[in-house]
Amino acid sequence: TVLVVDYGAQYAQLIARRVREAQVYSEIVPSDTPVAEIVARKPVALILSGGPASVYADGAPEIDPALFAAGIPVLGLCYGFQAMAKALGGEVAPDGTREYGRTELCLTSTAGALHDGLPARHPVWMSHGDSVVRAPEGFTVTASSDRVAVAAFEDTERRLAGVQYHPEVGHSPHGQEVLRRFLHQVAGLTPSWTTSSIIDDSVAAIRAQVGDGHAVCGLSGGVDSAVAAALVQRAIGDRLTCVFVDHGLLRAGEREQVERDFVAATGAKLHTVDAADRFLGALAGVSEPEQKRKIIGREFIRVFEAATAEVAEAEHVGFLVQGTLYPDVVESGGGTGTATIKSHHNVGGLPDDIEFALVEPLRTLFKDEVRKVGAELGLPETIVGRQPFPGPGLGIRIIGEVTADRLATLRAADAIAREELTAAGLDKEIWQCPVVLLADVRSVGVQGDGRTYGHPIVLRPVSSEDAMTADWTRLPYDVLERISTRITNEVAEVNRVVLDVTSKPPGTIEWE
Ligand code: XMP
Repeated sequence: TVLVVDYGAQYAQLIARRVREAQVYSEIVPSDTPVAEIVARKPVALILSGGPASVYADGAPEIDPALFAAGIPVLGLCYGFQAMAKALGGEVAPDGTREYGRTELCLTSTAGALHDGLPARHPVWMSHGDSVVRAPEGFTVTASSDRVAVAAFEDTERRLAGVQYHPEVGHSPHGQEVLRRFLHQVAGLTPSWTTSSIIDDSVAAIRAQVGDGHAVCGLSGGVDSAVAAALVQRAIGDRLTCVFVDHGLLRAGEREQVERDFVAATGAKLHTVDAADRFLGALAGVSEPEQKRKIIGREFIRVFEAATAEVAEAEHVGFLVQGTLYPDVVESGGGTGTATIKSHHNVGGLPDDIEFALVEPLRTLFKDEVRKVGAELGLPETIVGRQPFPGPGLGIRIIGEVTADRLATLRAADAIAREELTAAGLDKEIWQCPVVLLADVRSVGVQGDGRTYGHPIVLRPVSSEDAMTADWTRLPYDVLERISTRITNEVAEVNRVVLDVTSKPPGTIEWE
């Protein structure tokens, strides 16, 4: 394992992903992890991340010099580079030499293992206030910039190196090559983290954990639960039962994707619960968004638990499969162990004496790895390439009370929008495109010779990296026109299509 020591910027996860793109397994540890603990994990290399602090700031995370004496190859990036310089006796100055954004890197005559053969001047992404003014003893300066004399250094003998810039971001076009050289050449690591090795290791781990036991897995129609289930299915076959709750708030074709495509690809045993009436009943008369969300969440847990209890009783199930991803694990500060949940922590449903152990086969994976694993396991693109869709489904895309008729209207409009966006080849360009029915709003229109008094449909196409912030996508006018014409022609209750041109913030992606 390569450990990425996180000095508190948003870059650690990106670095860990880039390391894995170089086919070496990586994990993230917080910067306050004691050196003894880091060394005890026997990392094959360390990467020190960037961070927001100045090495001079009070309470700035420092690096214990003992870290460099353990014989582990280390690469310091940005803050990590400066902290490394300081810890090893070099000099860092808060000299106001600020570099932000695209900067030209100038290689010295000894460009070293990381930069040798790269263009003598090439662009990199910088973001720093302080700068290293003298490299520590034993290090060779391998690059500078117009403003800083020491932009990269190496001590090949001790296998220590650092760069002032951010090689992990796309704005440093040779950055991935530099990371690759550090991992493969300086640290001498073999590229072995591949999709097929992930699957093999994961299947072996699931078999070891579950033994001859039985497991259940809830499917949502999304990528994570489908890939988690497919891995467990590969490991234990028919001793896995998948439970799919159809709450009636799904989009057109989503139930079929699970019942037909997922089952065809995996051969998994599927138990579908048809709970549409129950959800509609519980939602009757409710139009306040938070109340809708609460009702849907509560009903979902009840229905899922009852279905799971039924399967569990018939099959002596001891394990519950969950599609937890690595970023969730990092953000909740958790390790990579497994937890046990007691059923009565949840609402109703399971008998008190049933305890499930959690099986979380995606716990070490990033989303892009999950999609690759899913594709290699034979899941169709409709499942592995699916855009985000909220758990409460169309229930929070009808502004107003949720009824069967309104669901049918929204489902039809949504299907048209998705069809046209896919046909225009825009699926990868947009993050997602909620289609919203303003069920409590009517406007006057004219169709044929008659007056209409129908509802507006809102298109909300957004571009985003992580859903935390988003921008509205500038869709081509001809695509918008096709969607609008088709929806107003084909969906009876709708006589107007409007475009949401709000970024997030201030708007959220969903309307409720
Ligand atoms: P907002 O509307 O907060 O949405 O900008 C951010 C992202 O989260 C999705 N979303 C949900 N996903 N359960 C989910 O699994 C939910 O209750 C939920 N609400 C919003 C939304 O689609 C967007 O991708």
